[in-house]
Amino acid sequence: MAPQISPSILSADFAHLADDVARIADAADWVHVDVMDNHFVPNLTLGLPIVEALLKTSALPLDCHLMIEDPDRWAPQYAEAGAKSVTIHAEAAKAPVRTLRAIRAAGARASLGINPGTAVETYADLLGEVDMLLLMTVEPGFGGQKFLDMVLPKVRRARALIRDRDLPVWLQVDGGVSAETIERCAEAGADVFVAGSAVYGADDPAEAARRLREQAVKATEAASWS
Ligand code: DX5
Ligand code: ZN
Repeated sequence: MAPQISPSILSADFAHLADDVARIADAADWVHVDVMDNHFVPNLTLGLPIVEALLKTSALPLDCHLMIEDPDRWAPQYAEAGAKSVTIHAEAAKAPVRTLRAIRAAGARASLGINPGTAVETYADLLGEVDMLLLMTVEPGFGGQKFLDMVLPKVRRARALIRDRDLPVWLQVDGGVSAETIERCAEAGADVFVAGSAVYGADDPAEAARRLREQAVKATEAASWS
């Protein structure tokens, strides 16, 4: 699959979300929506009512990343509302198979997210249940943090797990992805790139997203896994 760019609106202007989403409509593949509940992570952002409002205005599909304590209860509702991709965290889900299946049954892509300190091998048996694996490249909770290079070996191992079983699973990286780090992520095996501050911190977010895509495409072409 060609590299995809999913700008995170965590770094957008929350008072003008519809405008900020419209600014990237021609340059991105997804809009990444970070849902935080101040329990799973020490930050509070937005929830279903705002996602429902965004769904009415966004030309791009929503990639909802649920950093919440009880994803089993809430995740299917995001899919039912119309989000096209819903990520639950492995560290929070009590019944991941049931919840991932409920997300798919509601018509969305089902995704499993794991934190920097969580091993991917623990979840190898779940790969058949997911459409995407999200590897956090910062500790979740805030935008603008420094990329954690220590996750790159895990990106490689995750790509190998997916390739060895010939699974159609996308591999997303999230946190600190920028012009400085995106090539390393693509080279290691990522194919969906979340970027918050690198896109919305730029004067021209669309141009920043286009540049990130160009870098990812070139690095992927040169990568041994592709
Ligand atoms: C962090 C969020 C990320 C964040 C990325 O917990 O999941 O999506 O917005 O922001 P940057 O790209 O600035 O690290
Ligand atoms: Zn995120």
